[in-house]
Parts: sequence; structure tokens; C-alpha cells
Amino acid sequence: MESIVVLTGAGISAESGLATFRDADGLWQGYKIEEVCTPTAFKSDPAKVQSFYNQRRQELQNNIQPNAAHIALAEFARQYPGRFTLITQNVDNLHERAGSEKVLHMHGELLKVRCQRTFRVYHWTSPILPSTPCPCCNQTKTLRPHIVWFDEIPFYMLDINEALQQCDRFIAIGTSGQVQPAASFVEMAKSCNAQTVSLNYAPANGDFEQHIQGLASQIVPDYFGQLLSHAVSQKSHKQHLM
Ligand code: APR
Repeated sequence: MESIVVLTGAGISAESGLATFRDADGLWQGYKIEEVCTPTAFKSDPAKVQSFYNQRRQELQNNIQPNAAHIALAEFARQYPGRFTLITQNVDNLHERAGSEKVLHMHGELLKVRCQRTFRVYHWTSPILPSTPCPCCNQTKTLRPHIVWFDEIPFYMLDINEALQQCDRFIAIGTSGQVQPAASFVEMAKSCNAQTVSLNYAPANGDFEQHIQGLASQIVPDYFGQLLSHAVSQKSHKQHLM
């Protein structure tokens, strides 16, 4: 049975109403991404960075729902008899709300914050203000978004590398392939003889063997529905031979 690794990007959440990073020439609610997604930006203007994430944290909780693509992935993982790994560059919680488990959020999560003194991570749904005390050190100004900024090391890289080395099929969904290290996952998978497939609205970025163009809410349920029925018939055929 194939070991499958899926990488998702902002495109899978676009139809849920969350803006992508590079479709609107890199502006996010009026901010340049690089102005608010770096440790330097946080150091020089913490209030601006906190405000940016407070807005995104609030937006995520304002009637944003998982779409058919998130749901199709969760359903596939539930029924697929082989190994399945879901990696996301997204910081929203739509995969989890669609029912996915063990989601590898390599760029962190909007609904989590971290104490810069103790490194403890907390589930967090309200704004972080200059007066907000940290739950562990009880000081103000020590909490930061649990987000991986540019120039910081992504999370789960050991798990991700191991999964890519073992995978037979690598599928990228809704990502422009502009940001490392995620942009290199397709090459890593190919070096381990995996099949590589891109499901995306724009033409694929990266050397995928197969590219399926379209809206995630349509192409993801179709693709994974076919993949599952093929796997299930393969399994029953094998059982029949035993
Ligand atoms: N269905 C499928 N694909 C879509 C849809 C859709 N409805 N809408 C947009 N897309 C595609 C776009 O064509 C684009 O190729 O999704 C991709 C989104 O690309 P980006 O905006 O660059 O987002 P992503 O690839 O996730 O960015 C990676 O960059 O800014 C950092 O940390 C941030 O995680 C982010 C990383």
C-alpha cells in the first residue's frame, strides 16, 4: 500500500475566505508579509506585529469554515489503509475542524501563543495586548504568536524528512512553491522515487510529474476519491488472492 504525503498551502483555505499570500501581490490586509512576519519586525515594532496576528486570529474565528477540500482530506485519511502524513504551511485550524488529526503545522498555528522566556505554548483565541500577562511568568510583553517567521526554523522537520524519505506519492495542494524548505519537498520525494502530483489553481511551481489545475474544493475531492477507491480495490484484490 502506498505511503502518501500531502503538503497544503494557502490555496486550500482560499475558498473558505482566507486570503492567500501571493495572489494579492503579497499584501495581507494592507501589510507587506515581510514587514510583519520576521523576528526583526517583531523586535522593532511588536505592537504592529501583534496587531497583525490579533486581526488574523480574530478573522479565523469569524464564521470561517473548512471547505470540501479540507473535508475530503480528513475523510481520505480516515479510510485509507496505508500510511498517510498531512503537512501544512497554513496556520489556520481548518484541517483540524474538518476532522484531520496529527496535522504537521510546519509554520505554526494562529490559535497558539508562546512564552519567550519559558517557551511554553498555549491555546489562545483572544488578542495579545501590551498589558496581557503571560500565564506562566505572569509578565507582560513575553507572549508572541506561535508562528514560524521568515529566517526561523520550521517545526516538525525531522518527522517531515522521515515521511518524505518513505513516501511513494507526494501531493502538493494550493501552494505556490515559493518558500523554502516546503518548496524543496517535491525534489526530496522524487529523489526517493515517489510519484509527485500538484493540485493547484495556478500552473504548478516545481518539477511535479503530474499537475491538476482547478479549484481545491473541486479537484481535491475528485482526486482523493479516486485514490481511495483504487486503494480499496487493490486491498480487496490482495485479500482475494490470499
Ligand atoms: N484552489 C486551489 N489553489 C488555489 C486556490 C484555490 N481556490 N486559490 C489560490 N490557489 C493557489 C494559488 O494559485 C497559489 O499558487 O494557491 C497558491 C497559494 O500560494 P501562496 O499565496 O504563495 O501561499 P503558500 O504557497 O501557502 O505560501 C507559503 O509563504 O508567506 C509564507 O508562511 C507563509 O505559509 C506561507 C508560505
